Amino acid sequence: LVVGTMAHAQSNYPSKTITMIVPFAAGGPTDTVARLIAQSMTKTLNQQVIVENVAGAGGTIGAARVARSDPDGHTLFLHHIGHSTAPTLYRKLTYNSIDSFEPIGLVTDVPMTIVARKDMPAKDFKELLSYLKANKTKVTYANAGVGSASHLCGMLFMTAIDTELTTVPYKGTGPAMNDLLGGQVDFMCDQTTNTTSQIKSGKIKAYAVTTKTRVPSLSDIPTANEAGLPNFEIAVWHGLYAPKGTPKPVVDKVASALQTALKDTTVKQRFGELGTEPVAAERATPEALRTFLKVEIDKWSPIIKKAGVYAD
Ligand code: MLT
Repeated sequence: LVVGTMAHAQSNYPSKTITMIVPFAAGGPTDTVARLIAQSMTKTLNQQVIVENVAGAGGTIGAARVARSDPDGHTLFLHHIGHSTAPTLYRKLTYNSIDSFEPIGLVTDVPMTIVARKDMPAKDFKELLSYLKANKTKVTYANAGVGSASHLCGMLFMTAIDTELTTVPYKGTGPAMNDLLGGQVDFMCDQTTNTTSQIKSGKIKAYAVTTKTRVPSLSDIPTANEAGLPNFEIAVWHGLYAPKGTPKPVVDKVASALQTALKDTTVKQRFGELGTEPVAAERATPEALRTFLKVEIDKWSPIIKKAGVYAD
C-alpha cells in the first residue's frame, strides 16, 4: 500500500502550491533570481510557485527551515554561494549543506560590483582604496550577514587591502541598498542583479566589478584587476534544492521545469538586463549541482579559515 501511495503522490505532483524559500529579505538579488524562475515554473508545473523570504544569519535560518521541511517536492530552496561557505563559517549548524538537501540544478552566475553612496569623494577605485584606509575607523560596509555573498566579497576585499572595516549586517542587500541610497552606510560589494539599475540611474557610485572580464551591461566599469586589485575575483552562483528524501521522479520533474525556465525568453532577457545569464542546460541538473557544491565547499573552506572568519 505504501509503495502505491508513494507512486500516486509522485504521479500527481505537484498537488498543491509550491513554496520556494529564499534565505534573504525580499527585494534583494537572491529574491530577484527566485521570483524570475518561480514565475516560469508556475506555468510549466501548472501550480503556483510562491517565494517565501526566510531571512537571518547569512541565509542559514532559511536553509535550516528547508532541511526540516516535508520532502514531498512542495518546498524548494533557492540559495547561492553561501550554501558552500556556511559549513566553514558556522560550526553549530542544524543541517548539512550536502546531506540535508536534494540538489536540483544550478541557475545562474552573477557578477559583483563594489559600489558606494553617490557622494563618496573617491573618483576611482584607487582613490577609494586610499580613502578607505585613511578613514578605516569611520567608513561602514553593508552586508547581508555572515555567510552572505556580500559578506564573502567583503572578507576577500578587506583581506586584499589588509584593512579591517566596520560592517553593518542586514537581512539582505535589498534593505542594505535602501541605506546606501540614503547615505546611511558607505559602501558594499553586491550582485549586479541588485545594483545595475541604481548604478545606471546615478543613485550610487560603482568602482569595479569582481569578474575576470567586464560585465557587458556595465561595460564602462573596470574589473578590480584592471583597477589595481589583482586576483580579486568572485562571482555568485545560485542553486535550487529540495529537502533530502524528496523522491527522484519529483526532483527530476522540478529539474525539468528549472531547465525550461532558464530557456524562457523573459527570464533570459531580464537576466541579461541584470548583468547575468542562465547557466547552460547541462549545469541545471542534480548531478551538476551536487558536484559543484562539493567543489565549492572544499574551495572556500581553507580561504575562510586562513582569513580567520567565522560566525559562532
Ligand atoms: C548576499 O549578499 O548574499 C545577497 O545579496 C543577499 C540578498 O540576496 O539579499
